Order: sequence, then C-alpha cells, then structure tokens
Amino acid sequence: MEAIGQLTGGVAHDFNNLLTVIIGALDVVDRNPADEARRNRMIAAAMAAAKRGEKLTQHLLAFARRQPLRPEVCRIDRLIAESEDLLRRALGDAYSFHLRLGGGVRNALVDSSQFEAALLNLVVNARDATPAGGEVTIETRPVTLPKPVGELPAGQYLRIAVRDTGSGMDAETAARAVEPFFTTKPPGEGTGLGLSQVYGFARQSGGSVDIETRPGQGATIAMLLPIAAATDPDASEAAFDHVAGQVPARVLLVEDDPQVAELVDAMLHDLGHTVVRAGGVDEALDRLNADKTIELVLSDVIMPGGRSGVDLAEHLATARPGLPVVLCSGYTGGDQGRAQAGAWPFLSKPFSLDSLARVLTEARVR
Ligand SMILES: Nc1ncnc2c1ncn2[C@@H]1O[C@H](COP(=O)(O)OP(=O)(O)OP(=O)(O)O)[C@@H](O)[C@H]1O
Ligand SMILES: [Mg+2]
Repeated sequence: MEAIGQLTGGVAHDFNNLLTVIIGALDVVDRNPADEARRNRMIAAAMAAAKRGEKLTQHLLAFARRQPLRPEVCRIDRLIAESEDLLRRALGDAYSFHLRLGGGVRNALVDSSQFEAALLNLVVNARDATPAGGEVTIETRPVTLPKPVGELPAGQYLRIAVRDTGSGMDAETAARAVEPFFTTKPPGEGTGLGLSQVYGFARQSGGSVDIETRPGQGATIAMLLPIAAATDPDASEAAFDHVAGQVPARVLLVEDDPQVAELVDAMLHDLGHTVVRAGGVDEALDRLNADKTIELVLSDVIMPGGRSGVDLAEHLATARPGLPVVLCSGYTGGDQGRAQAGAWPFLSKPFSLDSLARVLTEARVR
C-alpha cells in the first residue's frame, strides 16, 4: 500500500510538472503567434515535456506489468554488444567499462528496446553511484536453478549483471531500490523509476532482479531472464558457431609464460569458462588434486622443469581417465611431434578464439 500511495502521489506530482510546462508553452505560443523564435522554443519545450510524460507512463505500465511488450527470441550477447556504444556514451570517459559476455549464445524471449532501456538504467545508476575513475562491468553467465528460488521457477536463466565499484547500498536502501519513485538522489536528479523499469521488464519477461551490495563495496544488480530455445534462423545458424556454442567449464590452464597465460586466460574467460592456472606440470598435478571440479586441461607442451605437457597428458590418461586434455604449442621441435602423434586434440600457437573454441568442444565430446 505504501508503494501505491507513493506511486500515485509521485505520478501526480510529476505529471503536474509536465503539464505546467506544456500548458504554459501553449499559452505563450497562443499569445505571441508572430514571434517565431519564441514559438519554436516553446514548442520544443512542450514536446520534451510530453515525451517525458510518455516515458513516465511506459515506466509505470512496465512496473504494473501491463505494457504491451513485443517479445521476440533474441540473442542477449548480441543485444548487449549492439548497445555498447550507447552504454559507453552514457557512462562517459571518466569510467572504465568492461563487457564480459560469458556463457556463449543464450537466447531469451524479450522486448529488445525494453532490454536496452533496462541495461541503460542499470549503467546510469552504476555511474551515479561511482566516483570518477571507477569501473563498471557488464557480465553475463548462465545459471541453473534446480528448484524455485523466490519468485523464480526452477529452470535455466541468463544472468545479466551490471557491477560497479561505487558507494553500494545499505540493506534498507537495497530492499526498497526497485520501488517506483524510491530515490536517494536530490530532487530533480532522480525520479526513482529506473530500477522499477528494470524490475517490471524482468518480471514481465518471466525473470527477476537480484541485488548484491554492501555500503562502500559497490553494487551488482543482475537481471535473471529465462533462457529460451533458439527459434529464429539467425540463432540456430549460430549453433554451429563454436565460440557462441561453448558450454562453460572449469579449465586448468598449464602455461609457463605469464604473458601467454594472461592472454589465454582472457580468451577462456571470454568463452565463458572459469580458469585455474598452473605454471608447470608439478603445479598442475597439485591443482588437480586440490580441485576435483576441474573439467578440462589445456596445457602448453614445452615447459621448464624437465616434464612436458605430453608427460602430463600421458600421466592423466591413466591417473584421471575421462578428463579431457588439449595440448597446445607454438614450437615446432621437442615434444611437439609426440604431442601430435598422440590422441590429444592439438592447438598450434598462435590461435584465434574460434580455433580455441573448436578444439575445446572437440575435446569434450570425445
Ligand atoms: N548501482 C547502484 N549503487 C548504489 N545505489 C544504487 C545503485 N542503483 C540504484 N541505487 C539506489 O537505488 C535508488 C533507486 O534507483 P532508481 O534507478 O530506481 O532511481 P534513481 O536512479 O534514483 O532515479 P532515475 O533512475 O529515475 O533517474 C537510487 O536512488 C539509489 O539510491
Ligand atoms: Mg536510476
């Protein structure tokens, strides 16, 4: 009830402001029909106010979940990439902005312009909460809910999170943040409708919003949207795209060169994988013993310490049968011949994201 009271009070207040501008502007035009410059100015002001009113009703309807959305099966990673320019512009140069679109192709049944509006609202909020020089990151990953959580039924969701390094929120603010017209910003700076649009959109798309934050520790605000099967030709054609079709895995990356390791780590991350690193064979074996959730090993062939990636692969073939191993090397001598003669999928350096994706898929279906 409090929310409804606030809603009607807030709407009345905002519409009154808009109508004051529109009526005043029309009045001026009516009284000074000959003053062209003035007329243009007034028409522009009235138009801007009317558009603002239009946005306000859209926000409200989305919150009330009555807005006629035009949902289509969309590739979410593509929608985000298409909005990147707009989001960067909204954020401005004072922040560093990162996109981490993990988890490959995921489709969701959404209204694309509402999705874009929601993402923009989240990025603008992140900017407002973060001092210049901070970081704003958009991250996506698939999430499986084995049983219902809150208002979400069990199922597969895509989690689209906007993370910032800003002020964060206390528990009370976080609890009220999606309420329409709830704002902590000074009058004139916030309407308090941004997150209610995000929430309305997510609910209407069958999903929800999740807020993780602590005062002084930044905020991560995520939309969880149900993953939809690909139905459009675009998306099914993309099913053959290995980059897009990666199934996230926990990968042990064995590489002695820190710079190469850094690069390959980033590539694996871009493909949606989580990475555990080791600088040599001994360390790799330690990691594997300590972490039973590792699902795949990607190892360089030539490494210091006397033992090569091939030795590691041979050892694992008996010690951990079924654990896929991919070997990679840029060197044309040494153990490379042995590596290529073996049964392991092989990747020669340098490699593209696509060939990395391809070899990982190949290794996992063997
Ligand atoms: N990333 C964030 N970090 C810290 N606080 C946030 C963040 N996002 C939202 N909030 C808090 O939630 C409140 C509501 O956010 P919401 O987007 O709904 O409205 P607003 O940003 O205040 O105004 P509007 O979006 O209409 O301009 C904000 O005023 C702020 O207190
Ligand atoms: Mg906002």
